[in-house]
Amino acid sequence: MIPNHVAIIMDGNGRWAKKRNMPRTYGHKEGMNRVIENVRYASDAGVKYLTLYAFSKENWKRPKEEVSFLMKLIIIYINSQIDELDRNNVKIVVSGDLDEIYPESKKVIDGAIERTSKNTGLILNICLNYGSRDEIIRAINLAQKDGREINSYEDLKEYFYNSYIPDPDLIIRTSGEERLSNFLLMQSAYSELYFTDKLWPDFHKEDFAEALKNFAGRHRRYGGI
Ligand code: FPP
Repeated sequence: MIPNHVAIIMDGNGRWAKKRNMPRTYGHKEGMNRVIENVRYASDAGVKYLTLYAFSKENWKRPKEEVSFLMKLIIIYINSQIDELDRNNVKIVVSGDLDEIYPESKKVIDGAIERTSKNTGLILNICLNYGSRDEIIRAINLAQKDGREINSYEDLKEYFYNSYIPDPDLIIRTSGEERLSNFLLMQSAYSELYFTDKLWPDFHKEDFAEALKNFAGRHRRYGGI
């Protein structure tokens, strides 16, 4: 069975570049090529929602040049891919606080969201300036402002970014690290986790296919028997 929603922590760009004696940004650039390849693959494979952790709240701690490179890379990604994504009926959405990102990046992203808003194929959810704890606190505050009493996860989830997106069935993390790093903490309660030693720039569509195959062999019980 193909998972409805796959979320990916695309880790290892820096190490991939270091192994080649290249600057970290070179790894991010190659990482973008894997984003292009794997988004195409997800769309073709019939995944309905693909969430990508592109930039976390914590990533601002990186050197200014690297932050600036990543902000520009998202512009390059969208400008180079938007025609194809739109043609393939992909709908782009973003989770995270866009008010804090570079205005040039925000402008291009807003344009892509608007242009693809009526598409009905793969929903590509890009997490930008995203942190899960932050999302939870934000949701609590929004609910409070609404005077809403929260009695269940579903009540709270209504205040998450793009809350109509179902919780992830499968979370993939590349590069051998086995942790969630403030990604979808509540949404991942019943997600299957898949870790691979492959660094993100080495994670090709065949590796994605392997992860989906592994998922298909899992038995999900959601606390039952
Ligand atoms: C983690 O690797 C990767 C990131 C923080 C950035 C992810 C960005 C991309 C894959 C490129 C473009 C994305 C889009 C959506 C166009 P790392 O730098 O932490 O690697 P390391 O752990 O080896 O240092």
